[in-house]
Amino acid sequence: MDDYRAYYKGKTILITGGAGAIGCNLTRELSKLGAEKVIVLDDLSSAELWNVPNEKNVQFIHGNVVDQNELKRVFNLKPTIVFHLAALFANQNSLDYPEKDLEVNGLGILRTLQFSAMSGRVERFVYASSGCSIYGCHGKLPLTEDQMSLHHTTPYQITKMLGELYCNFFLHQYGLPIVNTRFFNSYGPGEVPGQYRNVIPNFIYWALMNKPLVITGNPHATRDFTWVFDLVDALLRSGYHKEAIGEAYNLSRGEEVEIGTLAEKVVKYADSKSEIIIGSKRKWDTKDRLLASSEKASRLIGFKPSADFDEGLKITIAWMKEHWEDIKLSARFAPGVSSANADVTQ
Ligand SMILES: NC(=O)c1ccc[n+]([C@@H]2O[C@H](COP(=O)([O-])OP(=O)(O)OC[C@H]3O[C@@H](n4cnc5c(N)ncnc54)[C@H](O)[C@@H]3O)[C@@H](O)[C@H]2O)c1
Repeated sequence: MDDYRAYYKGKTILITGGAGAIGCNLTRELSKLGAEKVIVLDDLSSAELWNVPNEKNVQFIHGNVVDQNELKRVFNLKPTIVFHLAALFANQNSLDYPEKDLEVNGLGILRTLQFSAMSGRVERFVYASSGCSIYGCHGKLPLTEDQMSLHHTTPYQITKMLGELYCNFFLHQYGLPIVNTRFFNSYGPGEVPGQYRNVIPNFIYWALMNKPLVITGNPHATRDFTWVFDLVDALLRSGYHKEAIGEAYNLSRGEEVEIGTLAEKVVKYADSKSEIIIGSKRKWDTKDRLLASSEKASRLIGFKPSADFDEGLKITIAWMKEHWEDIKLSARFAPGVSSANADVTQ
C-alpha cells in the first residue's frame, strides 16, 4: 500500500460534514484503510443517514459544528487528524440564508479550529475550501494559486475564503498544521440531488424522470468538473504529506466541459427523453469559463486526476439508479423548483 494510505491504519480521524457528498466517500475510504475510528460529525442539514457508511469503525454523531458541547464530545474521542468538510452549501443557499452561511462556514470552522488547537493532539487539519470562492469573478485561466480576488458575488464565496484565513491564522498563532485544499465542482456517487445541489446530480435526477433540464444562462459556459474519488485521494494525501502544511492548492481535473454538452451527455447516457431548455442567468453567476491548474498539488502531494469525465458520468448515473428509491424520497426541492436552481459554481 502507498505510504499515505497505510498512514491511516489505526488512526482516530474526525470528519465534519462526513455524511455529505464528498464526506461519505472519504468516510468509506478511511474505514476501508483500517482507521481505528472515523468520527463523523454532521447535522444532516444537507445529507442523508442512508448515505453514511455503516461500518464498525465509523461512529456517526448527529451534531452541529457550531455547538461547543458537540465539539467537546467529539474531541473527547481524541482525533489526531481532522478533515473539515461541514459547510452550508452553496452559492444560492447562502444568498437565501446569509446569516446561517456565516454561522456555519465562519463560526463553525473557527470553533473546530479552536478545539483542534486546544486538544494538543491534532497532527493535521485539512480544510475543504472552494476554488471559485478564492478567485472571485475574475481571474486568468487556468486559475493558479497566486491569483486572488476580493470581489465575490455570494456570501458562500466570502465565508469559504474566511475559512482559509482562519486556518492560516491558527497555523501562525498556535502552530496547528493546517492545509487549505481548493475544490472545483465535485461530481460522482454520493451526491443526492436537491434545490441547492450541484448541476450534475440535478441534471441526472430530472433526466431520469424525463423532465426538462434547464440551463441557467449560457450553454457554452464551462466548468472544471472533478471526480469525487480524485478529491478523496487528494484529501488523504493532504492529511499525510508534510509538504502540504501551510499550503493552499487547487484540486481539479484541468479540463473544461460546456454545460450544454454536459446536458446532452446526461440525456444520452441516462437514456432519457428530457428536453434541454435555456433559462435565465442568475446575477451572482458571473463565471462564463472555469478551468484550474492543479500543477501545485501534483508537485506537493502527487495529485493526479484519474477519471475519464464520461466514464465518471456513467458511473454517477448508475449509482443514482441503484439508489433511486432513497433518492426520490431524499431529493430536497421546494414545490415547483426545477433544475434551473442547480448550483454550477462551487
Ligand atoms: N461539492 C463541490 O463541488 C465543492 C466545491 C468546492 C468546495 N466544496 C466544499 O467541500 C465540502 C464538502 O462539500 P459537499 O459537496 O460534500 O457538500 P455537502 O453539503 O454534501 O456536505 C457538507 C456536509 O456538512 C453538513 N453540515 C452542514 N452544516 C453543518 C453543521 N452546522 N454542523 C455539522 N454538519 C453540517 C451537511 O449535512 C453535509 O453533510 C464543503 O465544505 C464545500 O464547501 C465542495
